[in-house]
Formats: sequence, structure tokens, C-alpha cells
Amino acid sequence: MNILAIETSCDDTGAAVVKDGREVLSNVVASQVPEHVLYGGVVPEIASRRHCESISGVVNKALSDAALSLNEIDAVAVTAYPGLIGALLVGVNFAKGLSYTHGLPLIPVHHLRSHVASNYISSPDLEPPFLALIVSGGHTHLVHVKDYTDYEVIGRTRDDAAGEAMDKAARMLGLPYPGGMNMDRVCANGDAKKYKFPNPHVDGSPFDFSFSGMKTAVINLVHNKEQKGEPIDLENVGASYMRQVVKVLCDRSEKAIALYRPQRFVIAGGVSANSVLRREMEALCNKYGVSFFKPELKYCGDNAAMVGAQGYYEYLNGNVADLKLNAIATMDIDMKMSK
Ligand code: KG4
Ligand code: ZN
Repeated sequence: MNILAIETSCDDTGAAVVKDGREVLSNVVASQVPEHVLYGGVVPEIASRRHCESISGVVNKALSDAALSLNEIDAVAVTAYPGLIGALLVGVNFAKGLSYTHGLPLIPVHHLRSHVASNYISSPDLEPPFLALIVSGGHTHLVHVKDYTDYEVIGRTRDDAAGEAMDKAARMLGLPYPGGMNMDRVCANGDAKKYKFPNPHVDGSPFDFSFSGMKTAVINLVHNKEQKGEPIDLENVGASYMRQVVKVLCDRSEKAIALYRPQRFVIAGGVSANSVLRREMEALCNKYGVSFFKPELKYCGDNAAMVGAQGYYEYLNGNVADLKLNAIATMDIDMKMSK
């Protein structure tokens, strides 16, 4: 089954063709980073406009890279939630148009489920059940993936997402957008033990995360140095901060592994590209004899191939929408999709 997939939940315009949920025939991403970098973060209105301009060309390129015409496509999958509402609407409406004009089934896909599904592409033997740590710019979740479309949330952030915490700290340290990625690039070899950051626990919720205290700590540290006229020790502050974000992520994941005793553990989302997280999570899984899975770097950030992968399993489960489909800005990952 050939699925044409579309992703416009944030600032990347993506289209891909994926066969049977696992084989990527094409994957096109038009990045908007050069525009948003001027503002230090994503400007939603600009993101929506750029999606409108790019979507047609990106979809055409995905089809031509796959050497397929629309007549050889069996269904259209699209990220319908959660995300920036104006950005999502562009992809959803384009997908509805294709579905209507070509009589193709329309498959709405949850953005975080598609991040998890990036692992089905990178590890063709991976099958549920497994535990997953999903770390993106807007979400931080520990989930029990019981089946391809059956999710149970075990823990979640109570305030900022891990990616958001990285981005804000990076901005304070003077690094350009996208901050988390640049912090990894610039600070990965710094002295990660030089500065101490808090590891806040959420009372009564051992699997939940909180990052706002760490963010405040780095802001205070930078202000303090500025007031004293001292240079900001970028490489070492960044390395210490990353280490602490990863420590919090690993700490909660370890508790979940110890309780659930899964055979497999998966990381997903933009922050799963982080070099420290990839290394530390692998070590943790080795300690417990759990098989560890991570997406290839090219599938960590937002892309449409992962939407095509998850879309296939949503389709098999009967999750097909009609033309009343609308984009929704917030949606739980464990929702039961209405048919
Ligand atoms: O999943 P994603 O591409 O978009 C959302 O769904 O939010 O995640 C974007 C987040 C950003 O916060 C970005 O800074 C972070 O992923 N990120 C990283 C790295 N690469 C991307 N954070 C840490 N280390 C990286 N190498
Ligand atoms: Zn994402």
C-alpha cells in the first residue's frame, strides 16, 4: 500500500511516499529555519504562510522522487493534531483536496504517534509492545505503546517540554535557533560536571517531568555572570545543562523500566537526536538488558515519512476520516480515534 503523507505541524513542510508503513520511497522536507532564525524561534503566522507557498511543490517532489503518479497512491495521511493550528490547517486542507479529487482514503495522524513510528522505518523489526520516551519541542511523554494504535501515558511534563527547556537555555547562552540542536553541536565536548542544575521531582508522580526550575537556574546563572562582568562559559554551562536535562529524562525512564520491565525501549522526537541522550539511554537499556531503539538522525525532526509509517497502521485499524476532518491544536496521544 502506497501512502502519500503530509506534515505541516510546525515549521517544516514535509511530504513523503511510504510503502506498507516501513519502506520510504521518498521524503521531502522544506525547512523554514533561515526565516525563523531572525526572530529566535518559530513565528506561527510566518510558518503558515510558508507552508501555503511550499506545500504544492513539496508534494509534487515527493511523488516525482518516488517515481509515482497520484493514480498509484492508495491513501493520503496527514498530521491533523497536535501542533500550530494555522500550520496544521494547511496540510489538512491540502490532504482533503487530494482525497476528494482522487477518491483517496484520508488518514488523520497524531504528530507524537508519528514520531514514535519513525522507529518503524529505522528498525524494520521493531513491533509493539514497548515503552517510549517522546521528547520534542512541545511535548515530553513516557508512554506504554501496547499496540500500533493503543497508547497509555505513564508520565508527562508538568511544565516545559525538554526541547523547549533546551531552546530557552540556548537562547540565554546566545546560541541561534534551533537552540537544542546548536547546544548539542557547540557544547557536547564541554565539562558537564562544572555547573549544577536542579533535578526537580513531582510529588506522588514518579514518572512525571518538570523542567521550568532548570530553565530559571540557567537564566539566573547567566544574569549573575553578566552582573559581575564575567564571560559566559558557554561550552561548559551548555554541557552541564544538557547533562542535567538528560539525567532527568533517564531517571524517569529508569523508574518506568524497573516497574514495567519492557523488552524494548524507544526514543523519539526532535530531542532524540541529542548525542548525550542517545548515549545515556543506550547505556541505561544495556544495564537492564532491554533492547534499545532510536530513529536515524534524518527521521528525528519533523518529517512526513514518519506520518506515512504511522498512517499505515492507523488505516489498518480503521482510522479514516471524511471531509469534515479539522485540524486540532491539542490532542492527547492516548485518545481513542473516532472512526
Ligand atoms: O519534534 P521536533 O522536530 O518538533 C516538535 O514536534 O516540536 O522537535 C524540535 C525540538 C526543538 O526544541 C529542537 O531544539 C530539539 O528538538 N532538538 C534537539 C536536537 N535536535 C533538535 N535538542 C537537543 N539536541 C539535539 N541534537
Ligand atoms: Zn515533532
